[in-house]
Amino acid sequence: MEPFDLNSYVTGLRRAFHQRPELGLKEYETSRRVRAELERWDIPYRMVGETGVIATLAGGRSGPTVVLRADMDALPIQEDTGLPYASQSPGVMHACGHDAHTAMLLGAAAQLAPRREDLPGAVRLVFEPAEEIAGAGRALLEAGALEGADTVFALHAAPNLPAGTVSIQSGIRMCGCGYFALTVRGRSGHGSAPHEAVDAIPAACAMVSALQNLVSRETDPEDHLVVSVGTFHAGTASNIIAGEAKMTGTTRYTDPKLEERLPAALERIFRGVAAAYRVEIDLRCGAGLPPVVNDPACTQTARRAAQGLLELRDLPLATGSDDFAFYTQRLPGVYAFLGTGGDYPIHHEKFTLDESALAPGSQLYARYALSYLQGGNV
Ligand code: NI
Repeated sequence: MEPFDLNSYVTGLRRAFHQRPELGLKEYETSRRVRAELERWDIPYRMVGETGVIATLAGGRSGPTVVLRADMDALPIQEDTGLPYASQSPGVMHACGHDAHTAMLLGAAAQLAPRREDLPGAVRLVFEPAEEIAGAGRALLEAGALEGADTVFALHAAPNLPAGTVSIQSGIRMCGCGYFALTVRGRSGHGSAPHEAVDAIPAACAMVSALQNLVSRETDPEDHLVVSVGTFHAGTASNIIAGEAKMTGTTRYTDPKLEERLPAALERIFRGVAAAYRVEIDLRCGAGLPPVVNDPACTQTARRAAQGLLELRDLPLATGSDDFAFYTQRLPGVYAFLGTGGDYPIHHEKFTLDESALAPGSQLYARYALSYLQGGNV
């Protein structure tokens, strides 16, 4: 038998996943391969839904449980990298590095499985479907992905750092986000007789402006809050007063308390303006994601785990979101940004990553589990 080579194992898996990307909740082939590899390493698993996989490597001794998570889904993007192992599925691409995350976590399984007898505790490997469909990770948590666990760890490809480096920093690392849809109802009429109608357009415009008071007058300047209206539609003809206006928008924030407060604040502002303009409103606030918050002690454990493996670098807060936030909301954990280089950002049709990042990234997964189990957060 050939000796096991982590680098070729992880790179081979990543290329296989890359070539056959699957959209959220449709990761059938990916999930099958994940399970086949887990069977190869003799790690028992259970499924959540049709594609989610939760595997548990029970140690020979009792101790804490460490959860390591990787996401598996791809994006609806037509790949344009020209790579020999580019996507063979038209219009679907691994442009967020989830192929690499899944491969690296399987690499961690391969490293940890032979040492299971010595492990003082358990390592749970969570292969999550549909991360890109915000909020899908919640189903895994409801299925007990974190039950009885003590800490969680995940990493994400970071094209803004070179391969061989990693950012592991405590505190808020990714923003929370929310969504809203608003319908403003007045009464339509002839454009020449506004006094006989209730114009929805000036009312809706006033709402768009008033919204920014949330950012400039109600939020601590130290916190980040972005409120953006992305769509705005009203009216049918130049001489008809619009009886209805519709808009949708997104919120991004760092203060975890805003998750609960924002829908109520939006409602208060819209209702107040609606009363002033004599219109009715219908507001829907979609379930968003809380911020990803790294626990200080777990961050130290992860930084120690990276020693001699990856160079530590600092990155500013990322304004994107990740449903790993649901995990760090429930358990102390860490989300690391693994430098993967390349010339394009994530979600770009030319996104590539430097594969020399994969083996050390995989080792970081395994080492986080080992250092937590062996030393706890000391
Ligand atoms: Ni991603």
